[in-house]
Amino acid sequence: MTSNQHERSTSDCDLGIVRGTAVTVEPSFDEAALRQAFGLFPSGVTAICGLRDGEPTGMVASSFTTVSLEPALVSVCVAQTSSTWPKLRERPRLGVSVLAEDHGTVARSLSAKDIDRFASVQWEATDHGAIFVYGSTLWLECTIDDEVPAGDHIIVVLRIQSLKTYPEVAPMIFHGSGFRKLAPHSEL
Ligand SMILES: Cc1cc2nc3c(=O)[nH]c(=O)nc-3n(C[C@H](O)[C@H](O)[C@H](O)COP(=O)(O)O)c2cc1C
Repeated sequence: MTSNQHERSTSDCDLGIVRGTAVTVEPSFDEAALRQAFGLFPSGVTAICGLRDGEPTGMVASSFTTVSLEPALVSVCVAQTSSTWPKLRERPRLGVSVLAEDHGTVARSLSAKDIDRFASVQWEATDHGAIFVYGSTLWLECTIDDEVPAGDHIIVVLRIQSLKTYPEVAPMIFHGSGFRKLAPHSEL
């Protein structure tokens, strides 16, 4: 714990609405603490992939979010330092695969450095060169609509050209730096 953090236990809270131990981080932000804070927001995990000179190229992104119904837009935030994004952004179409709960090996492989990322990944390419990962819960074939620099990332707005859904496939959840599964459905 650094000097700009304050710890408070559950017993500090009269209303009983705070659970666990709160850690307050004041600005200036510590990058590791911010990364940990962002990790408390659960998300899905996507693979953004395209065919380049006949070879599959791709990366994993948990920053995927839906944006607009009309037109049909989604977004993903890509690090300015990514060496894969400059290759993907030249492609006429990109495949966005929303990974399934059993895709841990795929997610690790498609985010690793200096390996053949697709060696253990089953995939198919569309006529337009978008690449999809087999066994995913959703496939979106997209074109790039806009790229907006935002801090150390680029917000990439993608326009959906076609899609395939597999609603019976359970998605992978990324939370607290780890891959998780959804609990069986229950009323809250
Ligand atoms: C679960 C997970 C989620 C990730 N999400 C993102 C993301 O949203 N944006 C991003 O730029 N990189 C993300 N990455 C990192 C990339 O997949 C990849 O490792 C990174 O781009 C470095 O490789 P590159 O230089 O080939 O791009 C994520 C990695 C993992 C394992």
